[in-house]
Amino acid sequence: MPFDSWWYNCVSLAVDTQLYHLGAMRLQRNGLMAHRRTFHWPSLLTESGRGIAFGGDYNPDQWPEDVWDDDIRLMKQAGVNTVALAIFSWDRIQPEKHRWEFGWLDCIIDKLGKAGIAVDLASATATAPLWLYEQHPEVLPHDKYGHPINAGSRQSWSPTSPVFKEYALTLCRKLAERYGTNPYVTAWHMGNEYGWNNRYDYCDNALHAFRAWCERKYGTIEALNAAWGTTFWGQEMNGFDEVLIPRFMGADSMVNPGQKLDFERFGNDMLLDFYRAERDAIAEICPDKPFTTNFMVSTDQCCMDYADWANEVDFVSNDHYFHEGESHIDELFCSDALMDSLALGRPWYVMEHSTSAVQWKDLNIRKRKGETVRDSVAHVAMGADAINFFQWRASAFGAESFHSAMVPHAGEHTKLYRSVCELGAALKTLGDAGVQGSELVRSDTAILFSAESEWATRSETLPSKKLNHWHDVRDWYRAYLDAGTRADIVPLKYDWSGYATVVLPTVLMLSAADTARLERFVRDGGTVVVGYASGLIDENFHTWLGGYPGAGDGMLRTMLGIRGEEFNILGAQAEGEPSEIRLSNGMVTRLWQNDIAVDGADTEVLASYAGTQADEWELDGTAAITRNPYGKGMAYFVGCDLNVADLAVFVGDHLTVGQACEAGDGADYDPTITLHTERASAEAIFDFYLPRGKNETVVSGISGEPVYRFQCDEGEAPGVYTIRRNGVLVVKRYNRQ
Ligand code: GAL
Repeated sequence: MPFDSWWYNCVSLAVDTQLYHLGAMRLQRNGLMAHRRTFHWPSLLTESGRGIAFGGDYNPDQWPEDVWDDDIRLMKQAGVNTVALAIFSWDRIQPEKHRWEFGWLDCIIDKLGKAGIAVDLASATATAPLWLYEQHPEVLPHDKYGHPINAGSRQSWSPTSPVFKEYALTLCRKLAERYGTNPYVTAWHMGNEYGWNNRYDYCDNALHAFRAWCERKYGTIEALNAAWGTTFWGQEMNGFDEVLIPRFMGADSMVNPGQKLDFERFGNDMLLDFYRAERDAIAEICPDKPFTTNFMVSTDQCCMDYADWANEVDFVSNDHYFHEGESHIDELFCSDALMDSLALGRPWYVMEHSTSAVQWKDLNIRKRKGETVRDSVAHVAMGADAINFFQWRASAFGAESFHSAMVPHAGEHTKLYRSVCELGAALKTLGDAGVQGSELVRSDTAILFSAESEWATRSETLPSKKLNHWHDVRDWYRAYLDAGTRADIVPLKYDWSGYATVVLPTVLMLSAADTARLERFVRDGGTVVVGYASGLIDENFHTWLGGYPGAGDGMLRTMLGIRGEEFNILGAQAEGEPSEIRLSNGMVTRLWQNDIAVDGADTEVLASYAGTQADEWELDGTAAITRNPYGKGMAYFVGCDLNVADLAVFVGDHLTVGQACEAGDGADYDPTITLHTERASAEAIFDFYLPRGKNETVVSGISGEPVYRFQCDEGEAPGVYTIRRNGVLVVKRYNRQ
């Protein structure tokens, strides 16, 4: 849809019940539904079954039974209505090969259920019992040096081991038989963070499975040789029995990037196959309860191709751990923006986050005043209908005893537990107000994320090892926030054709088909923004030729009206050389510049490199940022890396309506600091306001009923509120109000 008519619709429908459908309109759901399981959200044990789910991972097997009743008392006091149970309990359930112990699990599920606390029951396969490893050491995965990854931690199993699979599926069936009809078990929590410790497995089973995977994918060895470019360094294969996994090849060796990329895809697929097998083993016995597994989209990771995984669950879940410092809340919003797209705009589940500090970083910073509540409500603002933590009660021993929990070591008379109770009450208020089931109203802009480009940027053979697709996605996301608007983050492989603008930040890999999709999108009136290291390679990691970015045999270049000849890489390592280059509009680039020629008849140069540093690299006067009208649309090229402040200026100047900002390295530019999201249902629209910065903010012109305020004061004039640091305001507007 052309931008003007889209915008008109957005404004005219803003208080109309049709708004409910706007999200679906931009992230086109329909085409994706064919591959997806039906959305199925677990009911609570409340009278209506509705409400925002609230709780955490519960590990009663670490505690004597007399603590269990106290747990339940405290859970009820805090408003907990759901727990994830038995995630690491396989050894308790099956202490020996032929001995099953369900009594303790029956007892705690019963206690929880009678207290109105629903159970998200684990398949319990994340950690196998030690007897299994002793009897079958062949189930252990191997590192790239050929060493077994020993038992004693978690996920010490190979997803391609048939022996392990048999044991795991037996456990799944036993659990389904025992609890499939238990009314207190309302969902299945499969595994735990698949791939956390076995994402890369180099054992012989993996080798054989990889050969079979390659044969299925390529059909002939000639096709595989061509895809991997094996004429380079004389690596041609005569048959699939010569295919290798990228085991250690020597300290300074460089792995064939095509082979490495396929190994990433293979690892993702093997874990997904394993998940499916577990799910289906349970579903054969218990077909009616929803399945989920917790993804890992946060801070520095998005390690699997969750665009595929999301098709295989009945509701999408995520584990999110905060990034301390200035980007804390922005990073949370960014991860959540991807989650909301993975969920196709349906509500999704925070399966884990932390009440305060974790215990796995060098410095484990606690949450600041208000952040325990604020972070949780922020997830709700971004579309989550379930807020859960790792974990309920802080462990007294083991690797995670210094990780924060809902009940800290010091017990219930603590600031932290009081915050947890405050949060429970807040979520109940939001649930009662009708937030649950409403959907996040989406933006007109999609920042495209591609797991394959993320994997590709980790190759050690690129012009710079500092490339990072996910981080560039985050920077663009923050730039949109700074410019006073919000973008969505959408998997490249989904259908984003309903958006007005799409942004490609370091989408290194573009296939011919994806380039053709982009071309159609712009031809039909869309705006595309191509980042500095996008469209350089195809899906086999072959460099597109004829000038950068050559995706689609030059189609991308033609759209942009430019042709890149070389990359100019900067960095501290080039001692005495300039470490940054200025642009004619005052912006600064520090890592990567494309040395381009402008060859489109109508291509406009918006900024060029300038000054003595640029001159040293033959870049003085060379175009840095361009725009080219193409078909009915517009194609922008941002040919160098820029910091968030400069990206925000670019967004404000070119991509948002009436948001022009001053250029200049952020110094004279005031980022917009309050995030506003809307969640819409057939009945109402909920406005969430969250300050992103350190200072309090004043929001005015707010209409509707304030349903929740946290660290937020009502002003003297109507519709004016002061929200203090880490505060939240939620307002409800009825449709047609
Ligand atoms: C997650 C994991 C939890 C716990 C948590 C600690 O990765 O699923 O079991 O270890 O991290 O932050």
